[in-house]
Amino acid sequence: MTHSGPAIPLEARACGPLSGKVRVPGDKSISHRALILGALAVGETRISGLLEGEDVLNTAKSMRALGARVERTGPFAWRVNGVGVGGFAEPASPLDFGNSGTGCRLVMGAVAGCPVTAIFDGDASLRSRPMRRILDPLELMGAKAGEARDGGRLPLTLHGARDPVPITYRTPVASAQIKSAVLLAGLAAPGVTTVIEAEASRDHTELMLKHFGAEIASVKEGAHGRRISLTGEPELHGAEVIVPADPSSAAFPIVAALVVPDSDIVLADVMTNSLRTGLFTTLREMGASIEESEVRGDAGEPMAQLRVRASKLRGVEVPAERAPSMIDEYPVLAVAAAFAEGETIMLGLEELRVKESDRLAAVARGLEVNGVDCTEGKDNLAVRGRPSGKGPRGAGLGGGTVETHLDHRIAMSFLVMGLASQKPVTVDDRAMIATSFPEFMDLMAGLGAVIETP
Ligand code: S3P
Repeated sequence: MTHSGPAIPLEARACGPLSGKVRVPGDKSISHRALILGALAVGETRISGLLEGEDVLNTAKSMRALGARVERTGPFAWRVNGVGVGGFAEPASPLDFGNSGTGCRLVMGAVAGCPVTAIFDGDASLRSRPMRRILDPLELMGAKAGEARDGGRLPLTLHGARDPVPITYRTPVASAQIKSAVLLAGLAAPGVTTVIEAEASRDHTELMLKHFGAEIASVKEGAHGRRISLTGEPELHGAEVIVPADPSSAAFPIVAALVVPDSDIVLADVMTNSLRTGLFTTLREMGASIEESEVRGDAGEPMAQLRVRASKLRGVEVPAERAPSMIDEYPVLAVAAAFAEGETIMLGLEELRVKESDRLAAVARGLEVNGVDCTEGKDNLAVRGRPSGKGPRGAGLGGGTVETHLDHRIAMSFLVMGLASQKPVTVDDRAMIATSFPEFMDLMAGLGAVIETP
């Protein structure tokens, strides 16, 4: 989506205890991958629980434009009939990924292994994000990027490889998007494509490739890393994918329940893959009450029901090596830290600067305008909290308007802050929330939150 029209602000105010049981929408990472692998497989893929947010819908459109049949068969239920590995058709018009770095970068990988040319584009946020990190390995595999403006930003043209070559690639930063792009291109290359990462990033692509029939192995590399090897030219076969609830979306009601006094909520089917749950680890270290039950799994992805109760939080130091497993959760962790006793220090945040916005700066400014004492470093953030105890809530906190910079997670994080602050918190634009969590307002209202147009 390209954000057009006037911005619509939202305001969150202190509310009574949150309560109830909810299921947040399907996981965004898994939803993108299910559509892409479904499109690269032979036969039919059925997906249930797909996230129907704008980011994922743009990926669905791009798969159609590349020749797959993609249909919605019911609420959150989708059917994909794929073209087979290497079988994409040349799209007739540019592929628009809106706000989604994941959709854009993963599809670049999938296109790179096919002898087609596609133009990639997105909104102002995506046009400002680095693409060289994806193009570098894809060019080593035989693809060619042309007409790139400003050193690898969108819009750009990608010419897929006629004869893709397998490579061994060490990712320069811990990024599941880079890893996945190389693996998806490697599907069409003869021989073994290997990706080595110094810090393990989310492994949904590996797990789902296996589920669709690819031969893929992942072994430890160094203290925190992985070496992933994919055998090229598999016959991927259509599969059934059940998408668990997104832990990155669950993070918002979870932190809200922790900081709004006397709250007690339950979240169903939350994915608990350990490469995604760094936030839960950190919150528990801070004293959060988050209980897991009904632990189960599907297609290699574990999930559980979570019960979250309002808790007295204390500041902690979050180590840099935990960053890949909670990379999207720092904005809402910073909000939790604003209500904790003492200082929370978050290290290893350099990647936050190149997300949907410069999240490190956006979070620091948002905290400051709402009365939180914090220090923004080059790659770290320190937040000194003001716990409310049983007295007035978030004493002195709130009262500011936060600039969201086309970033859904900045918008939702600061709305959570408003629910427990003494004064309301306003965010300047609600539009981007629909990219990952279209049900956010209704779901939060159902739990008792007060979030309205000011
Ligand atoms: C994602 C990977 C992460 C994350 C993004 C989703 C994915 O990006 O920030 O929201 O689905 O692969 P990086 O791996 O590039 O850090």
